[in-house]
Parts: sequence; structure tokens; C-alpha cells
Amino acid sequence: GTVVLAYSGGLDTSCILVWLQEHGYEVIAFLANIGQDEDFDAARKKAENLGAKKVFIEDLRAEFVEDFIWPAVQANAVYEDRYLLGTSIARPCIARSQVEIARREGAQFISHGATGKGNDQIRFELTCYALYPEVKIIAPWRIPEFYNRFKGRTDLMEYAQKHGIPVPVTPRAPWSMDANLMHISYESGILENPKSYAPADLYLMTKDPKDSPNTPDVLEIEFKNGVPVKVTKVKEDISMSTPFEIFSLLNEIGGKHGVGRIDIVENRFIGMKSRGIYETPGGTILLQAHLDIETFTMDKEVRRIKQGLGIKFSEFIYNGFWYSPECEFVRHCIAKSQENVEGKVQLSVFKGQVYILGRESPKSLYNEELVSMDVQGDYDPVDASGFIRINAVRLREHHRLQGISNTK
Ligand code: ARG
Ligand code: SIN
Repeated sequence: GTVVLAYSGGLDTSCILVWLQEHGYEVIAFLANIGQDEDFDAARKKAENLGAKKVFIEDLRAEFVEDFIWPAVQANAVYEDRYLLGTSIARPCIARSQVEIARREGAQFISHGATGKGNDQIRFELTCYALYPEVKIIAPWRIPEFYNRFKGRTDLMEYAQKHGIPVPVTPRAPWSMDANLMHISYESGILENPKSYAPADLYLMTKDPKDSPNTPDVLEIEFKNGVPVKVTKVKEDISMSTPFEIFSLLNEIGGKHGVGRIDIVENRFIGMKSRGIYETPGGTILLQAHLDIETFTMDKEVRRIKQGLGIKFSEFIYNGFWYSPECEFVRHCIAKSQENVEGKVQLSVFKGQVYILGRESPKSLYNEELVSMDVQGDYDPVDASGFIRINAVRLREHHRLQGISNTK
């Protein structure tokens, strides 16, 4: 049969490419460009030399931003209060394109190099099953014949030498990375001890805030439908307005000022805790700006419900259920909530932080006269007495009937 392999150009998937052929499969190599720093031409040549029947390198950067990052921005998607899901949302994007190719090429098999302990295998495969129910998955790292043969890196190196697979010359970082336009994640290797600090030279997207510029950059971010449509560097008067350029500019500014670094222990879907380090510069700026314009333009009670949906949405994404009835339903609700989320937020980016400076919106629900300490507005303070007394009914009854503890 024919198998479409998610190929990275690295040692693992190169060995998988050859191993699959050894087992009688015809291999199509698939490489997604989602904004990672990669020599795609070299990867293509490498796959061809290793016997790949075809090589597809798909530029998914624009659809990654519009179809995956933007809904995450609308949702303020954050997993376990800190992780902005940069790897999690990339997986359905990659797998969707891989499925398209498999269907087009008449391939029934799909393969990937994700480990058997992680989240990524789940995300890849759930997406494949949801979009291509007849698919057959080959996950070598879960096949005893494969993982018993390749117990460590030395086994992979030996196999590579034997089969003419170019062996990496530069020493490998002592951790595993996953990079895309939204973020870079670092885990395993020397990071597995949760107590040991990350080395200073680990971070590739962001500067250490202690070495970042001593003057802030001021940005204006304009939103429509809860997504950014224009970003302006205010002092230089430079603007970007396509999704990809907007996100790239925010990454550049955030990276320069050391925004969006986290070091966390998280709960994997599969049940274990893992330690991860992430840098999400542009995403972190957008989260702060979006939270601000959202509260400014959204009804209080809608916001509360939507906030709960955002947590659900984040868990669906993390667990690999982007393409599921529940996630689609929540995505629709969240999109609906964003109809009036528009306007401009001004902020400064400085020393690892995002400082909101001001906001304006044609859809603002903010009534300056109503809230003012200096103007009466359409409001009678006498009404507040009744409002407070009615709210006190329950509290007074509670005291009378059950007494009160904890008053010190
Ligand atoms: N723990 C993060 C997540 O589950 C990052 C996973 C990184 N994946 C990788 N293949 N290095 O989303
Ligand atoms: C992997 O298994 O490839 C990385 C870890 C994860 O997916 O969570």
C-alpha cells in the first residue's frame, strides 16, 4: 500500500521513511510549512534520496494563522491557565493537509513519528480518523518490532549509516523541540527534571528580558470580529494587515522584548505530568490586547458564558478534539460572541511585559457619562439603596438562622 508520512527531515522520520519501505510500503513524504525555521529544499532532496515516491511540501502558514490561531485568539485559549497551545493547534492543521494528500493520492495509510507517550499522536490520529474514517494509521513508535529495534539514538544512527541516511553533523540539543509560527516548545532530555533550570541559550524566539531594549515599542492593534486586522508600530508608522504579516510582526516585537516565556508542568491527556518550556511572543501580546477589547465591547453575562466555553475549547484542542462535534459547536458559539469585538488597543511592549495604554471602539459598551464620578448620567443613586438591601436579604437571613463563623 501507499503511506503518507509526516516527514520532518530529521533522523527519526528519515529512519521511519526507510523502515516503511523495507516493510513493503510505497512512501509519500509530506512536510508542512507552518512557519518553522527549516531548509525545505534540503528536506525534499533528502526524502527523494531515501526513496520517497513523491514529496509534498505544503505552505500552510496562512491557513494556520486564519483557521487555527485566530479562533484561539477569539477564545483567549489557554490550557491550565498558562499554555497558549502552540503545538496543540498546529496538529489538526498539519493532519488536515496530510489527509487531503492521502485522499488525492489514493493512499490508505498515514504515518507519523510522534512518540507513544505523548499528546501529539492523539491529535494527529483523531484528526485523521475524523476527516478520513477509512484511514489506517502506522505509528512506528507504538509498534514493538520498531521500538525494540530502535531503543535509543545510537540504534537510529547505526541504522542510518547502514541505509545511507545522512547522519546529523551538528550535535543535537539535549531536549526535544517543536517549532512553528506561533511558538517553540521544549521538553524531555535534560528538562525532564522539573527542578533544573532551563539553560539561558535554550530560547530561540525571545530575548532574555534582562538583555532586551531599554525603550518600549508602542503598538496599536485593530480588531474586527475578535481578530486583528491591522497592527501599527506607532512611532515608526509601520503597519501590517495580512494575517501572516500581522502575526510575524507581533512575534518580532514580542521576541525583541522577551515576551511570552513560560516554564510549566502540565497534565498530558494520557495521564502523566510533563515539564515544558514555551515561548509564544506574538500570541501573548494578542491575548492581552484581545482580552482588553473584548471586555470593552462585550456584554457582561455573555462574557462569563464565553469565558467558560473558552476553557472547554482549550481542553478540546489540547486533547486532540479540534475536529469533533463538541469543539465545532463551541467554536461557533465563540465566533458568534465576537461579532462586536472590534476597535483599537494601544499598548507598549517592554521587558517581557505587555502594558495596555488605551482603547477605543465604535462598538464600545463603555458609557463615560454613566460611570463618571462627576456627572449624574441616566442613573439614580437612590435606586442603589434598594438594590443593596434586596441583595442583603439572604445574607441577613443566614446570620439570623445559622449564625456566622469566620468573622474573626
Ligand atoms: N506539551 C506540549 C503539547 O502537548 C508540546 C508538545 C511538543 N511536541 C513535540 N513533538 N515536541 O502541546
Ligand atoms: C511526542 O510524543 O512526540 C512529544 C510529546 C507530546 O506529544 O506530548
